[in-house]
Amino acid sequence: MSRSAHPAGPRHADVLPEGHYAAPPTDLNVLDPKVWSQTVARTADGGTTVGGIEVARLAEEFGTPAYFLDEADFRARCAAWRDAFGPDADVFYAGKAFLSRAVVRWLHEEGLNLDVCSGGELATALAAGMPAERIALHGNNKSEEEIERAVAAGVGRIVLDSFQEIVRVAHIADRLGKRQRVQIRVTVGVEAHTHEFIATAHEDQKFGIALAGGQAAEAVRRALKLDGLELIGIHSHIGSQIFDMAGFEVAARRVVGLLAEVRDEHGVELPEIDLGGGLGIAYTSDDDPREPHEIAKALNEIVARECEAAKLRTPRISVEPGRAIVGPTAFTLYTVGTVKPLDGLRTYVSVDGGMSDNIRTALYDAEYTVALVSRRSDAEPVLVRVVGKHCESGDIVVKDAFLPADVAPGDLIAVPATGAYCRSMASNYNHALRPPVVAVRDGEARVIVRRETEEDLLRLDVG
Ligand code: LLP
Repeated sequence: MSRSAHPAGPRHADVLPEGHYAAPPTDLNVLDPKVWSQTVARTADGGTTVGGIEVARLAEEFGTPAYFLDEADFRARCAAWRDAFGPDADVFYAGKAFLSRAVVRWLHEEGLNLDVCSGGELATALAAGMPAERIALHGNNKSEEEIERAVAAGVGRIVLDSFQEIVRVAHIADRLGKRQRVQIRVTVGVEAHTHEFIATAHEDQKFGIALAGGQAAEAVRRALKLDGLELIGIHSHIGSQIFDMAGFEVAARRVVGLLAEVRDEHGVELPEIDLGGGLGIAYTSDDDPREPHEIAKALNEIVARECEAAKLRTPRISVEPGRAIVGPTAFTLYTVGTVKPLDGLRTYVSVDGGMSDNIRTALYDAEYTVALVSRRSDAEPVLVRVVGKHCESGDIVVKDAFLPADVAPGDLIAVPATGAYCRSMASNYNHALRPPVVAVRDGEARVIVRRETEEDLLRLDVG
């Protein structure tokens, strides 16, 4: 690949959408700690390590594509959330971001609780020994079987998402001779500044019961009447990948407003509120996420202030971060297969994975960055699009980023911040085999979710 065929600088800026990298980073060999997990480091000879292990060695041992999860970073993030909220609050990790038995054990050891949203997630949580009382069950259309399993197991709370579910859970609890602790999920009418598909607090969508028009107050009325339910609080989740604290604050204020209404009407002070997950992370160097202690401080202050104004006892707060805990802790390692320079436009770098291991770029226009990690290169930066091996042109992993112009087949490149919603949303499109998740810590690497095999595919194909 000749240098002149891939000019860097202004010509590249011309074809980039506004707001994206206006210019390549000054040194592509430097890995921005904002987007890479804590223990990722470059070595003197130009390689890269995570948890003290060379990525080239990891690729040899585990193959590519593969997700490498920095366990120390994961645990540190759990601890940061736990400590930021303190003993008078509860942190529920949102398992949908990424769940495996090892992750459940780490959460347990780090003192976190777990939010599950399906029978499969519940089964994983229980199989790995998470005490049922530390599990919350979510979902806008939980099946009777899922509800029954959760109630029978004794989950700490079920978050009721609809009027039908209030009755459904109450009946099942009655039948099992139990009284189930529940929260009611409300939509507070906030337009979260994020992608439409992951905003969840405006009224025109499927989740929750609207505060508007007295719907949520009616839900509380009904829930309080049912013997099978112990209504412990109100839940709000406004969306995901959010940077602006204003939405959380408005939500907190409106949820406390409902607590005051409930107290006035029923003489009952609900003891808990859950303000959901949604805190954004840095996918590229342009992102500036808030830290757990900042969100804890903001939420605690606003809830305390609103409660004081309404003369309410301050409820116990819980939150449900998923992405903010696991997202930054992993990167996906790929091997470059083909390189196709398009003069004056960009270079297509095809890797051995694609939309089957990261659907977020195609689905949400998500932005990622990429780095050459198997060697150092001082070649000039070239604008690249990292694409997969699937049969469609929308199979894009990283839309616009820079790699050294000498990137070549056989190089290892890594996409950081893929810990959340990548393996958990991975598919078998084109009968791709879903990549393994390898946990790395203190010089040791171990597979926590193994690579899928052709036998796995054929086992499901029983025709
Ligand atoms: N709590 C509830 C009720 C949720 O629905 C979610 C995410 C969370 C907590 C955790 O949100 P987080 O802290 O991870 O933002 N697949 C999308 C994200 C969908 C989020 C769904 N609910 C993505 O890849 O961006």
